[in-house]
Amino acid sequence: MKAIAIFRNGGPEVLEAIELELPLPAPHEVRVRHTAIGLNFSDINVRNGGFYLTQKPHFPLILGNEAAGVVESVGSAVEGFVQGDRVAYAGSGSLFFLNTGAYAEERNIDANCLVKLPDDISDEQAAALLLKGLTAAVVVHRCYTPQPGDTILVHAAASGVGSLLAQWCTHLGATVIGTVGSQAKADFARAHGCHQTILYRSEDFVSAVRCLAPEGVAAVFDGVGKDTFVPSFDVLRPFGAAVNYGNASGNVPPFNLMLLAQKGCLALHRPGFGFYGNTRQTRQPACDELFDLVRQGAIRVDISRKVPLHEAALAHAEVEQGRSTGSVLLIPSSTQ
Ligand SMILES: NC(=O)c1ccc[n+]([C@@H]2O[C@H](COP(=O)([O-])OP(=O)(O)OC[C@H]3O[C@@H](n4cnc5c(N)ncnc54)[C@H](OP(=O)(O)O)[C@@H]3O)[C@@H](O)[C@H]2O)c1
Repeated sequence: MKAIAIFRNGGPEVLEAIELELPLPAPHEVRVRHTAIGLNFSDINVRNGGFYLTQKPHFPLILGNEAAGVVESVGSAVEGFVQGDRVAYAGSGSLFFLNTGAYAEERNIDANCLVKLPDDISDEQAAALLLKGLTAAVVVHRCYTPQPGDTILVHAAASGVGSLLAQWCTHLGATVIGTVGSQAKADFARAHGCHQTILYRSEDFVSAVRCLAPEGVAAVFDGVGKDTFVPSFDVLRPFGAAVNYGNASGNVPPFNLMLLAQKGCLALHRPGFGFYGNTRQTRQPACDELFDLVRQGAIRVDISRKVPLHEAALAHAEVEQGRSTGSVLLIPSSTQ
């Protein structure tokens, strides 16, 4: 079967097509034939190396943490899955840079990582939604739950996670201000939950948010990191929640904890989707909720690009340069 692997860290050019034979699934594993693979910013961090990875990668390494597909065969100890089941996964039971392997036509994966897909959720919707949606779920349920009447600031509101968060906040009755990098992204963000948008590359977002919400916002949901997180303390109301879930612009620089007291006794959160993704007890209800939000039309899963798996380097360049909106999928040639 074909896969995309890296043999060293570097730019998109280090992504290489390889062919390999998979072993039979181990007793606890399921063989999944992928039909749609989710591209995530963390794949780019793993490809680049050195960002916030705490262990050296073992090469060759097949990238990817998220996919949907069909069960081809099951290990001898697997219960609850049979050949032909439609399934998806986000993460493979450990940190995002370990046990990767979604950029492949097929893989063997621990049955504990899988969710079954309902008939009314397509493989592509699942691969575009699961990882980013579980991240949004941790933010909304474990960090700060937007209340009716709240104003929430979502940075990079046209991004994969940002566009889900903006829609979810609006669904819960909040007013959403979104920052975006271009007018086209502003239009996208307004169609995906944002009431107001700020072009944060050409405007000072702190003054712009203060104009729109003079009392300050209840929470900031931030996947941008270095460029936005600490300045965002200045737009929060007293006791507001500063949530950093990602670092698209780089790591948040170190800051003195006292700053949180000085800026209004702020609450600080740094969540990860693995909290929901790694155990079936939390993952299944969270996925059921995400599927329901999609069914109700509260969350629209926007797939801006579907790229053949063997052209993963093109998709990486596009996402890394911030040119994508919503979700980007890689499609194996066996599905096309
Ligand atoms: N904690 C977790 O468990 C978890 C889970 C999923 C994702 N994440 C992280 O959350 C972040 C966002 O994920 P996502 O899936 O929403 O990403 P995405 O769809 O690829 O969007 C990232 C957006 O960030 C903005 N950005 C700002 N500065 C940038 C820069 N220097 N380079 C590239 N983009 C930049 C761009 O939007 P504008 O043009 O509008 O500025 C870009 O489109 C990533 O850091 C990702 O690793 C964390």
